[in-house]
Amino acid sequence: MTEKIEADARPEKRLFVSLITRDISLADAFLDLLDNSINAAIEPLASRLKTADDYQRLLADTKLSAKVKIDLTIGSTKIVVRDTAGGISADTAKRHVFRFGRDDDASAHESDRLSVYGIGLKRALFKCGNKIEIVSDHRDGGFELKENVRRWAAEKQEQWHFDITPRKPAKNDLGTRITITELHDDVVRRLDDGLFLPQLREKIASTYSYFIGRIVEISVNGKDVEKESFEIGENYTSEKFQSGKVSCNIAAGIASTKGEVFRDRTAGWFVFCNGRTVLYADKSQLTGWGAGAALPIFQPKHRPFLGTVFFVSTDTEALPWTTTKGSINEESAVWQEARRHMVKVGRVITGFLDGRYTEDSAGIAPSDLQSVSGTGMSVLTAAVARTRQFKPPKAARPKTVKIQYDANVADVHRIQNYLRRSSMSGSDVGRYTFDYFLKNEVGEDK
Ligand SMILES: Nc1ncnc2c1ncn2[C@@H]1O[C@H](COP(=O)(O)OP(=O)(O)OP(=O)(O)O)[C@@H](O)[C@H]1O
Ligand SMILES: [Mg+2]
Repeated sequence: MTEKIEADARPEKRLFVSLITRDISLADAFLDLLDNSINAAIEPLASRLKTADDYQRLLADTKLSAKVKIDLTIGSTKIVVRDTAGGISADTAKRHVFRFGRDDDASAHESDRLSVYGIGLKRALFKCGNKIEIVSDHRDGGFELKENVRRWAAEKQEQWHFDITPRKPAKNDLGTRITITELHDDVVRRLDDGLFLPQLREKIASTYSYFIGRIVEISVNGKDVEKESFEIGENYTSEKFQSGKVSCNIAAGIASTKGEVFRDRTAGWFVFCNGRTVLYADKSQLTGWGAGAALPIFQPKHRPFLGTVFFVSTDTEALPWTTTKGSINEESAVWQEARRHMVKVGRVITGFLDGRYTEDSAGIAPSDLQSVSGTGMSVLTAAVARTRQFKPPKAARPKTVKIQYDANVADVHRIQNYLRRSSMSGSDVGRYTFDYFLKNEVGEDK
């Protein structure tokens, strides 16, 4: 047998840096940093956040107040992300934080809820700029890092590593501060375009509506981000299923609105993984709209439709999110199963909304939609609540019925003569005799 020889398959740092940053938007890179801070903020609560019911209990806990602050300061020369969560210990930094890809030490990731792949932090840093500084204070001793990415990428050492300096154990002011300078030109251009910051704010508000005000407060350039919250009518329909380590609640109903306008912004499917929004008001084939036999193509008449899919798992890799967490991995088996339930539950509502445009239910006016959907409740509460069935309105009964029958002409004449009204029409005779019977035999009791 011919002897085997080794073919070089070493990764090239420069290519690696450009590859992992290519497919992520700048906004998603910021969200990656926020995901990490929120994941750290959840850590003390992680044992209370294992099932969908736990997520609901946390929602209902009015005593819970956000203890962790995350401040984003974004300028055209410097980006700073600072959080007051527990910080990163030097030991964790040494073993896990800078690995590209998560190791298989499950016990190290038990309390993770929004950390999945082991790539987000590095990708976000590389995406934004060349100079990186991290200072983290932890009760067991944190660490510091200063890195020049270009220089690091040019170094050809066999074992990739970053040099970190341990810091003393801290009692107060725990947390992590990440500073990025020498920002890349395209990043500077994007930050300066006037649109980016308001869009980022909006994205943060909708992505972390579950966490804002409960677990964290987030500010961008000194201004707090308000959570996005809206309501669904309590008459919704829902189902639950469990697939391996993932539990999933699916609900569909009618958005609750003040006035009669149903906004595009609240229409479609909202998909959450461990409370983090993954899809927002999705009306595409991804969530079944216009996908063959699934749901109809989304049209303006479906604007009242509001559906939620809430996935929960303590094994974050089992959830169907993509590595940027901004979409769904379509091939995932648990997503496929969710899709089947979404079609079933969703059709109850699309069927009802489509029915408003047929003769049978011409009685349901737009203003009646709110009374059909009932009192509004938080979308998030509906997303994890007990299962229910949508009750379509009972079709209004007609108030009149037409009576028609053949009468002998001679008999009609006899009635006309008796009443001395020969000009009476057949229908007048019918009406008269009906009223007479009603009054004298049945009695007019109302
Ligand atoms: N602000 C922070 N506070 C505490 N720990 C953090 C913070 N940022 C990062 N970490 C730690 O660094 C690890 C690596 O972060 P990174 O974002 O690269 O990967 P990940 O969060 O594990 O997975 P993903 O690719 O899904 O983001 C995290 O698992 C977490 O332990
Ligand atoms: Mg992360």
